Amino acid sequence: MKEVNYSERTHFCGDLRASHIGEEVIIFGWVHRRRDHGGLIFIDLRDRSGIVQVVADPQSSQEAFSLAEEVRGEFVLRVEGKVSRRPEGTENPSLPTGEVEVRADRIEILSRAETPPFEIEDDTRVDEMLRLKYRYLDLRRPRMTKNLIFRHKVVEKVRDFLDKEGFIEVETPYLTKSTPEGARDYLVPSRLHPGHFYALAQSPQLFKQILMVAGVERYYQLARCFRDEDLRRDRQPEHTQIDIEMSFVGESEVMDLVEGMIKAVFSLIGVELKTPFPRISYEESMLKYGTDKPDLRYSLVIQDLGEVFVQTEFNVLKKVVAEGGVIRGLKVKADFSRRELDELTEFVKGLGVGGLIWLKREAEWKSPVVKYFSSPELNAIERKLGVEEGDFVFIVAGEKETAANAIGLLRENLAQRLDLREEGFKVVWVNDFPLFEWSEEEQRFVSKHHPFTRPTAETVAFLDKDPLKVKAHAYDLVINGIEVGGGSLRIYQPELQEKVFETLGMSFSEAQEKFGFLLEAFRYGVPPHGGIALGLDRLVMILIGCKSIREVIAFPKTQSAVCLMTGAPSPVDEKQLRELHLRLE
Ligand code: AMO
Repeated sequence: MKEVNYSERTHFCGDLRASHIGEEVIIFGWVHRRRDHGGLIFIDLRDRSGIVQVVADPQSSQEAFSLAEEVRGEFVLRVEGKVSRRPEGTENPSLPTGEVEVRADRIEILSRAETPPFEIEDDTRVDEMLRLKYRYLDLRRPRMTKNLIFRHKVVEKVRDFLDKEGFIEVETPYLTKSTPEGARDYLVPSRLHPGHFYALAQSPQLFKQILMVAGVERYYQLARCFRDEDLRRDRQPEHTQIDIEMSFVGESEVMDLVEGMIKAVFSLIGVELKTPFPRISYEESMLKYGTDKPDLRYSLVIQDLGEVFVQTEFNVLKKVVAEGGVIRGLKVKADFSRRELDELTEFVKGLGVGGLIWLKREAEWKSPVVKYFSSPELNAIERKLGVEEGDFVFIVAGEKETAANAIGLLRENLAQRLDLREEGFKVVWVNDFPLFEWSEEEQRFVSKHHPFTRPTAETVAFLDKDPLKVKAHAYDLVINGIEVGGGSLRIYQPELQEKVFETLGMSFSEAQEKFGFLLEAFRYGVPPHGGIALGLDRLVMILIGCKSIREVIAFPKTQSAVCLMTGAPSPVDEKQLRELHLRLE
């Protein structure tokens, strides 16, 4: 075996153009495809930059031709040759290098390959499990390579933007203290301290606040965060946040900064976003869209119909009104078959409401339940929803949150069925969140965001009397119905922080045990501060327009939190367990 001199590489495959015609080049890459055309062998050679055609012609080099005969898909080659114009009529306009080819003088096989389990092509349909097992092959597909490069560009843009705004990147520990609030922790046993555990950081939240106490003023970090939660298309057990914290700021300073950053990032795909982004309060969003992550690419708007049915004689609605529930409706210009209406009814029933009321406005109202509505009620529905002939009206009634959620998902379902989504990006801030919500499961108040979120001055007085009325200085960034970021101004007064812990049902000693270090830091001069974290994976997913964050993460885990390539999680040796003072049940 002879040493290869890699510095002699003259070009990347994808960079060769007509302007290189006549040049002697040395290129490296993988065999994307090999075609034997009788007297000639064509090899599409691929590296990270793209693909170029190599031609082995026995007339010019018998040696190169013989080697080309041996070559198979995914072999790794060194090719030396001359860039030539492709013969007229054989150009490939779909390839940036399509005008040229490299006439091989020498071919060297650097590494051989077995037949891959799937074709390294963008448009071959491959099961995702297979792709994840052979991720290194999957990442060779041009689309996946492009995704990796694009993600890098986003990170570069973010770093550049924040650097210009005076931020410094500070790394905070991944091995930290377990403070289960929100998702479940991933625990790491300590070898040196039997029975003690670290937790992998769910986010740098407390450290970034302490960095503000430390006087850092403008912090950011591309931080990996670990959460043991149920996975979905936009959730992974580890994700990356663009984590930001600033001192001496109010909500508008944080939001302005993020708008500038998001605008800069969208310029990478040639989209100019208008700033300021629209803002909508949590309450309004829950009413109009039935969710705090509204997708504004379609205009279906939900209306409250409570007033219409105050005096209703329709038993179903009468009962809901009597129980203090809500009645919400929306209209859509479309026609539905009986089967579709049954499907929609089943759909909302699955979301916990009693059923779906539908009415169709033709010359007359049509509905199996129209006889239960008075004409003033029908007129009021028509007015409130702006119903026109040919419209369908859907009504959902029930407990406030359940009904809001059900009609919100119905809205989404209808948009999907009727293909109502416009192209493009709809960015919106959701703010004015409640500080707490009531957890039926835990029978206590829990934080809507996290326990360090600052209540607004106007509502802080409700902490004692009616915690659900306390509003937070919190804001979420939502793009096309996906929560891309969340942040808040933080509490910086130790007494207020303790009071919030108390409202969350945490005793003084428990708060000290869990967050004593924060409360202690707060005794030494805290600047008012606030920040946000944006999900990098979700942001890149939206920019690229793919459906799952697994497409923009090099080595993601499956929905059941498994890495199919390495086989993690896996059992460990008895010896390792003993060292960690662990015994399995
Ligand atoms: P939060 O928990 O809202 O806030 O997270 C911020 C953003 O991170 C993304 N994200 C995720 N992405 C992929 N997989 C997950 N499992 C996952 N979980 C969250 C989302 C989300 O909006 N410390 C606070 C931020 C702050 O207050 O500054 C925090 O972590 O895009």
